[in-house]
Amino acid sequence: MNSHYIGGCLPCPKGWANTRIHAVAGRIFSNMKIGVLGSGVVGQVLAAGFLKHGHEAMLGTRDPQKPEVQKWISETPGAQAGTFAETAKFADLAVLATAGKAAENAVQLADPENLAGKTLMDATNPIGDAVPVDGVLSYFTGPNESLGERIQARFPQIHVVKAFNSVGNAFMINPQFAEGRPTMFYCGNDAGAKKQVAAVIEQFGWEPYDCGSIVAARAIEPLCILWCLPGFQHGDWTHAFKMISR
Ligand SMILES: NC(=O)c1ccc[n+]([C@@H]2O[C@H](COP(=O)([O-])OP(=O)(O)OC[C@H]3O[C@@H](n4cnc5c(N)ncnc54)[C@H](OP(=O)(O)O)[C@@H]3O)[C@@H](O)[C@H]2O)c1
Repeated sequence: MNSHYIGGCLPCPKGWANTRIHAVAGRIFSNMKIGVLGSGVVGQVLAAGFLKHGHEAMLGTRDPQKPEVQKWISETPGAQAGTFAETAKFADLAVLATAGKAAENAVQLADPENLAGKTLMDATNPIGDAVPVDGVLSYFTGPNESLGERIQARFPQIHVVKAFNSVGNAFMINPQFAEGRPTMFYCGNDAGAKKQVAAVIEQFGWEPYDCGSIVAARAIEPLCILWCLPGFQHGDWTHAFKMISR
């Protein structure tokens, strides 16, 4: 029988006692079946992260036999792959990690009924086809909309939670920074789904920051543009965001 995360993210003022709270939350969130829709580097890194933390993970793709996927399986203990629909059916918790412009199609191919009532942790960004201008990416969405909202509106039976879109894949799983845990901004409409994603964020070594409803994806998705800017301008891809406050 699976042991799922049931509690919330407990309030976390500073101190060793809170380290224990996070450890407990991490233990409770264990042994889930994670279906990752998307076989690119992000899908592979996140699926491997879930495997590392004791979950089962399936990578979803239109073609499970394609060489990149088969190579990843051969190099990753416990890894498996399936079609988008098989992966969605397998999932207790699903992850969306396809190209942004393919995201809605991927969920459609997965069959939204296979994801009904489930959490869909959405790591996609609506990156357009144009080349970056002075290091600034173009998006196919406008400032008062977001891909996260589009997906949530088109598939209301799924609990979409935007997260893990605002950092490069090299730092997604338990990153080490001298300044401590970086902040992962997340948002969504369903409180239970957000608690699950907050637990994932903590398990992957990040500090969760709840930005509210899925409308906040309008603010979180552009963080990818900002994150990529030092990379395009100076070749620096080794940073993450941290919220500091007093
Ligand atoms: N790269 C990063 O470090 C990073 C960091 C944060 C967020 N992100 C976001 O994460 C997402 C994934 O990025 P990525 O670089 O790993 O992969 P990607 O190259 O952007 O996307 C690859 C995935 O998209 C699927 N796909 C492409 N066209 C499709 C279509 N017409 N219908 C259905 N699925 C289609 C592919 O399916 P098949 O498997 O069938 O080929 C594959 O699974 C993107 O939205 C990106 O903006 C990336």
